[in-house]
Amino acid sequence: MIALARFVSLLAVGCALAGSATAADALPKLTQMLVESSDAQVQMDVLRGLSEALKGRRTAPMPAGWEAVEAKLADSANGEVRTLTQTLSLTFGSPRARTALRATAADTKAEAGARRTALESLLAIRDDGLPKLLQALVGDPAVRVVAIRGLAAFDDGGTPAAILGAYGRLTPAERRDALNALASRVAFAKPLLAAVAAQQVPKAELTADLVRQLRGLKDEGLRQELTKLWGVMRETSPDMEAEIARMKKVYWAGGSTPGDAPRGRVVFNKVCSQCHRLFDTGGNVGPDITGANRGDLDYLLQNILFPNAVIPNEYRASTLETKDGRVVMGVVKSQDAAAYTVQTATEVVTLPKAEVEKVEESEQSMMPEGLLGQLPETEIRDLLYYLTRPGQVPLPK
Ligand code: HEC
Repeated sequence: MIALARFVSLLAVGCALAGSATAADALPKLTQMLVESSDAQVQMDVLRGLSEALKGRRTAPMPAGWEAVEAKLADSANGEVRTLTQTLSLTFGSPRARTALRATAADTKAEAGARRTALESLLAIRDDGLPKLLQALVGDPAVRVVAIRGLAAFDDGGTPAAILGAYGRLTPAERRDALNALASRVAFAKPLLAAVAAQQVPKAELTADLVRQLRGLKDEGLRQELTKLWGVMRETSPDMEAEIARMKKVYWAGGSTPGDAPRGRVVFNKVCSQCHRLFDTGGNVGPDITGANRGDLDYLLQNILFPNAVIPNEYRASTLETKDGRVVMGVVKSQDAAAYTVQTATEVVTLPKAEVEKVEESEQSMMPEGLLGQLPETEIRDLLYYLTRPGQVPLPK
């Protein structure tokens, strides 16, 4: 069955690329298959294949006969068939699908998962009505993450106030999404730094990777403001060996058991786990470090202090700039004729190639420098001690 979905997807991609006579043939044939078949599995396979083939394209011309599919499958007993049909109809420009999805997204009584899917579909076609809706939904815990991430895609002047206004009520993870969205455009970053200066956003939450992203916006006024708030960022590495020796001294100043492992786990969760898996939890922006050479303090310090010394190619960061001024920093995980798929520090972003102005490969790792510099020495000792433990420890009470 998966084979059918894959076949449909390849067929549709092939046709789209070739723009050949078969392109005109295949979509109506698949559409007809959907009208005629009453087998939910076949319907699902064809729908999934079409979705896969259209991934990364915001819109596509409606194939002949699609209205009949939309009308028929809107009442399918199978939830996935209904959702896929609605999403595809939206991609094909159906006003009915757009109205329905906007209503679902805004409906606080609807199921949270359905609302998020509706928003994601509307984001995929870059629906004009979205910025105002998303700004209102920042106040709504059920869909707020999608709303905040989605707002980064639009250059809308109301966004900074909407996000900053809700900031105090956000969870730590939501705050990271909020800061990432605000750090993605010059016009958003200015109100963000004003909020940091006014202590509405705690300065400590502007972590090293965000500061780097802000500097990446290449705006002189912003840079000056950052230097005032954050101090000068070292652009050139100091002597590696001296720096490692200095950190070792800090570590061993803690005595024969230099740190506290449970407290170190808290520090890891705060500074590292967003990108790294260790033992049983964490993100996958960087490698899983459970099996790394963690018992070796030199290895740890080299990698933490000098992430740019050796960067495996699959982790080299790129900066993508859209035509409307959004800057996305991350690892380009894949690309095809239509779109780039980018792993940022917090999410996976798909950017249609037609909207991208410029892609620059950087000489930098996704892992920021200066992570330890933000921490008090006790936290550095706790973190390093935790990292050298062979197994997981409980969080402190
Ligand atoms: C924004 C994402 C990000 C954060 C935050 C981050 N890292 Fe990394 N880290 C990476 C990436 C990507 C790599 C792989 C590329 C490289 O070596 O620079 C990496 C590499 C490493 C390595 C080498 C792994 C190997 O396979 O040899 C270690 C060890 C490491 N990080 C530890 C840490 C620790 C400890 C922290 C917290 C103090 C941290 N990282 C924070 C993204 C991150």
